[in-house]
Amino acid sequence: MQITKAIFPVAGLGTRFLPATKAQPKEMLPVVDKPLIQYAVEEAYAAGVREMIFVTGRHKRPIEDHFDMSFELEVALEQAGKQELLDVVRSVKPDDMECIYVRQAQALGLGHAVLCAQRLIGNEPFAVLLADDLMVGRPPVLKQMVEQFAEWRASILAVQEVPPEHTRRYGIVAGTQVNEQLMDVSRIVEKPAPEAAPSRLGVAGRYLLTPGVFHEIANQPRGVGGEIQLTDGIAGLLRREKVFAYRYDGKRYDCGSKEGFLQANVELALAHPELGPGFRDYLRALEF
Ligand code: UTP
Repeated sequence: MQITKAIFPVAGLGTRFLPATKAQPKEMLPVVDKPLIQYAVEEAYAAGVREMIFVTGRHKRPIEDHFDMSFELEVALEQAGKQELLDVVRSVKPDDMECIYVRQAQALGLGHAVLCAQRLIGNEPFAVLLADDLMVGRPPVLKQMVEQFAEWRASILAVQEVPPEHTRRYGIVAGTQVNEQLMDVSRIVEKPAPEAAPSRLGVAGRYLLTPGVFHEIANQPRGVGGEIQLTDGIAGLLRREKVFAYRYDGKRYDCGSKEGFLQANVELALAHPELGPGFRDYLRALEF
């Protein structure tokens, strides 16, 4: 079965990035020349997803506008003969991609945000991408996961090794190793203290989930921080179905934090075909 739908929860408050996120979602912050959400949407598209479901909150307009047609802009670029820029603008939303918006009235947690999209997903497996985790991988990380899904036909969580002092920032998994990259998960805990963490494998913001998770999320009591946690829903799912943790090939930038966001900007600018060489010279000339 193919994964054709993805949920992008973009209703968080983004408090770690205030004041930049006071009046716009953090997912619209640009890394080099593209907003975070566009990187995530492109990753999903590259993995075969065509239906993009955004779970939005107060500041949904900029995201809707970004994936909408910008008629005046297109006419202006066309008249000015700026074909290259016109192609850039048009490529944001390929014709065979559909964008759907659903509102999370209150930011009650990531699990709750995912639950808001239940009716649009129906009874199929789906992807969840947290756009503030910018992933750089070849092939793109979600595509790697879709390939795993085709083989194992079960939920797949993207994981990476995290330093012991950072376990409080992640869902942490434990289980039995299937091969070098895959673990059959037997436990998942949300944001444990280092001494309570069952391993150092932390869940990054990419999930492929079976629809059974909706029922589990709906039946969990509020979790860490009083929020309805996706991790708790997955912990419920584990008792009924297999769930695998997949150590992806690639790098993750935590763009929900100022430090990760700056790192992403520097590294992606250095890798940029046009900007890279000049930016490298600029950095070299800086005196620290
Ligand atoms: P975070 O844990 O990063 O929370 O959410 P946040 O509110 O966005 O940011 P901080 O911690 O206050 O700085 C992880 C992802 O889940 C979404 C966020 O938009 C982000 O993509 N989310 C979280 C929702 O959509 N709804 C929620 O109720 C909570």
